[in-house]
Amino acid sequence: MRTPLIAGNWKMNGSAERVRAFGEAFARAEFAAAVDIAVIPPFPYLEAARSAFSATPLALGAQTLNPHPAGAHTGEVNAAMLVEFGVSYVLVGHSERRQHYGETDEGVYQRVCAALDAGLVPVLCVGEVLEERQAGATREVVLGQVAAVMQRLEPGQRERLVIAYEPVWAIGTGLTATPAEAQTTMGEIRAYLATLDRSLGDTLRLLYGGSMKASNAAELLAQPDIDGGLVGGASLQVDDFFAICQSAG
Ligand code: PGA
Repeated sequence: MRTPLIAGNWKMNGSAERVRAFGEAFARAEFAAAVDIAVIPPFPYLEAARSAFSATPLALGAQTLNPHPAGAHTGEVNAAMLVEFGVSYVLVGHSERRQHYGETDEGVYQRVCAALDAGLVPVLCVGEVLEERQAGATREVVLGQVAAVMQRLEPGQRERLVIAYEPVWAIGTGLTATPAEAQTTMGEIRAYLATLDRSLGDTLRLLYGGSMKASNAAELLAQPDIDGGLVGGASLQVDDFFAICQSAG
């Protein structure tokens, strides 16, 4: 049985006031079933979030990390710093970082390793762009991105990941993959994982991301291979995010 995970990726949005509002709203949170919830604010809010979320079920996530342990990397943040600030999850290879900040499969792998070494849970983000979908290359692209990391990890490491499938054309566009489209690709990811190790296919959590919102979350989460959501825009308003968490828990 995989416990659902709902992770709210604030991207470059947020404020001290938003952190406080989430802490207050989730302090009273009750869910009908087990659900893991993470909020992923920009780095400067991690410390305030750690304290505001201390009496809530909210875990903390970070949006990226630098794979190096320390040194001359102006503007970057390493895994040990995230751990020191109470972070549990870290996004790796989000499509915005792949597209606009030059993250390659190799860089994504290095970041996953750095996260694992520090005891963080990497949320490996994968997904095809529209042209790739239209060219019928979704499976090849997505499984390629998954394999670029999973194939190189040792047993004992790969069990500790979460994988987020985010069709790039559905991110921030209001276009959601239909539950059936998402399920098809996520079923393919799970089948690939099972070829590495049967139990990996059964246990690894797969999240859907791309315009998930309160009105479509339940239908997406009802798919057999969707174990949660990576939520961008709809994670910014506490009521919307709360409603999505309720669909999962
Ligand atoms: P969205 O973003 O929910 O705004 O589409 C999802 C993501 O980029 O993680």
